[in-house]
Amino acid sequence: MAHLDDLIAKDIHAYLRAQENKSYLRFITCGSVDDGKSTLIGRLLYDSKLIYEDQLASIEKDSKKSGTQGDKIDLALLVDGLAAEREQGITIDVAYRFFSTDKRKFIVADTPGHVQYTRNMATGASTADVAVLLIDARYGVQEQTRRHAFIASIVGIKHVVVAVNKMDIVDFDQSVYNAIDVEFREFAKDLGFLDISCIPMSALDGDNVINRSEKADWYNGPTLLGYLETVDVDSATMGNPFRLPVQWVNRPNLDFRGYSGTVASGVVSVGDDIIVVPSGKRSKVKEIVTMDGNLELAREDMAITLTLEDEIDISRGDIICKTDAPAEQADQFQAHIIWMSENRLFPGRQYLIKTANKTVPASISKLKHRIDINDFSEVAANTLELNEIGVATLSTTAPIAFDSYNDNQTTGAFIIVDKQTNATMGAGMLDFALRRAKNVVWQELDVNKAARSSQKGQKPALLWFTGLSGSGKSTIANLVEKRLMDMGRHTYTLDGDNVRHGMNRDLNFSKADRVENIRRIGEMSKLMVDAGLITIASFISPYRAERDMARELLEAGEFIEIHVNTPLEVAESRDVKGLYARARAGEIKNFTGIDSEYQAPENPEIVIDTTKMSAEAAADFIVDYLSDNGVFNVGEA
Ligand code: ADX
Repeated sequence: MAHLDDLIAKDIHAYLRAQENKSYLRFITCGSVDDGKSTLIGRLLYDSKLIYEDQLASIEKDSKKSGTQGDKIDLALLVDGLAAEREQGITIDVAYRFFSTDKRKFIVADTPGHVQYTRNMATGASTADVAVLLIDARYGVQEQTRRHAFIASIVGIKHVVVAVNKMDIVDFDQSVYNAIDVEFREFAKDLGFLDISCIPMSALDGDNVINRSEKADWYNGPTLLGYLETVDVDSATMGNPFRLPVQWVNRPNLDFRGYSGTVASGVVSVGDDIIVVPSGKRSKVKEIVTMDGNLELAREDMAITLTLEDEIDISRGDIICKTDAPAEQADQFQAHIIWMSENRLFPGRQYLIKTANKTVPASISKLKHRIDINDFSEVAANTLELNEIGVATLSTTAPIAFDSYNDNQTTGAFIIVDKQTNATMGAGMLDFALRRAKNVVWQELDVNKAARSSQKGQKPALLWFTGLSGSGKSTIANLVEKRLMDMGRHTYTLDGDNVRHGMNRDLNFSKADRVENIRRIGEMSKLMVDAGLITIASFISPYRAERDMARELLEAGEFIEIHVNTPLEVAESRDVKGLYARARAGEIKNFTGIDSEYQAPENPEIVIDTTKMSAEAAADFIVDYLSDNGVFNVGEA
């Protein structure tokens, strides 16, 4: 540190240059509440940061004198780190601390307080190069240690330090340290770490944190800071193929068209042959434009804009690669998922997934298994709860460009977002494609929806009735179908009787079953609409997410949501089937409106208030709506 003080005093510019050129290392500290994590971070920050703040004050003074803005350099770096998190849409409790020694700059992801939450740890770890796992020497390897090591491995951390803390309490007994060292290495041998270092220390007294401890004279390895200052983390990603996920298309005027983003991996040079995934279009790099002028070559982590020799169509979310090693593209994957929400995962429900820079609707088609963190065994499961980790198959509604997470941590990672609330539900790592999207060619049939609907002289539509049990949905739906039949229209009605006794006989009324019930009905309705029919679906369909999914399966204007808005008291007082009485008596569980939720539509096409309108009037109203909206006009048009 003295060296730095001198430099600042003598030559502030040289100091700032040195700061700028230093590599920086991101690491995460993990441990249970009492393992001494805060003490350790405090210890690490203490010397360096204290001096650093003094220095900062003097830099500020000096740079004001000399008119530079040098004091901003380091701060920008810190802010960068946070921006990357924010871009991924994760707002989770992780504090980033920054400190610097004369060898390196450091960003520590600290997950304060509730360390039991996997999501905090996973978030902090996702951008870290090194994980420091704290172990209390008295207790050895705990479940929490295993959990954290496992997550560190699946988010791709290659370097692990086992900080065997509180060695002072066990009198720096070498055998205690050795036992932990052996146990941890045995446990972690298949986790894919490049190196594991065990350091005996006392964060409280400062032994082997920054200063070498005399009490552990049997230990020859580095101190924690010594390790962090020298560990080589760059070689892990060096040599990866070039990837530029396109963040935006830069088109300030007709003469310039550039594709901007941060290089996720590899290098690119002017003149390189490139290919765009998923479109497969090819060209050559014309220029590499940056804020500081044009470059001949750009590498990982640099923000650049590429211009190409040819005018080809590239959009945000595409990945520009070199032709010799393109990224893959697919719409079905196997993935590891870490669930981060109190609301459990529903296979079949449509979520959004956000990859490097693209957002697409997707669903978990099947959960293969959950992983037991203690012994890595595969446990049968049909959902994931908060903090659980599983392996699943995932399908996206459109092909995406990607790499396996193992090969590229930027283009292989994604987060799962709830469509309604925009909350982050989970994070995931793409393992591999289940089939290549380009092999799936949708069969274009000559007899298609247009042909079928013109034969029937009608535009197909889906009338989706939603409302409480006993609200009058089926009564009105029946009347509508009769009226349409009388008009010579081609119709079909799906409702509980023909669906829950047949196709969905395996489903009950739990939330997961209802989600699946409506998912299947949505798909079924889509086929019927494709057949050219005016399709009527009458289900409680209590969740917005699944109704919206059904809507999105169809073309604009085809889905007509009809909210049969009967208040609970009214439906319950009618109690046509006697089910409300039984639900109140506790004989039927999960009854909608009683102990299971109903989410009313926000913007339905039609609302029927059955307390003001008879079923006949409602049916007329709906048929008039269809007529006004051109459903009967095909052929005449
Ligand atoms: S949905 O929620 O999955 O859309 P669906 O419309 O298929 O439900 O079935 C609802 C009908 O099943 C109700 O009208 C009622 O007759 C019957 N039913 C039996 N148990 C329940 C329950 N727990 N909650 C709601 N409806 C139930």
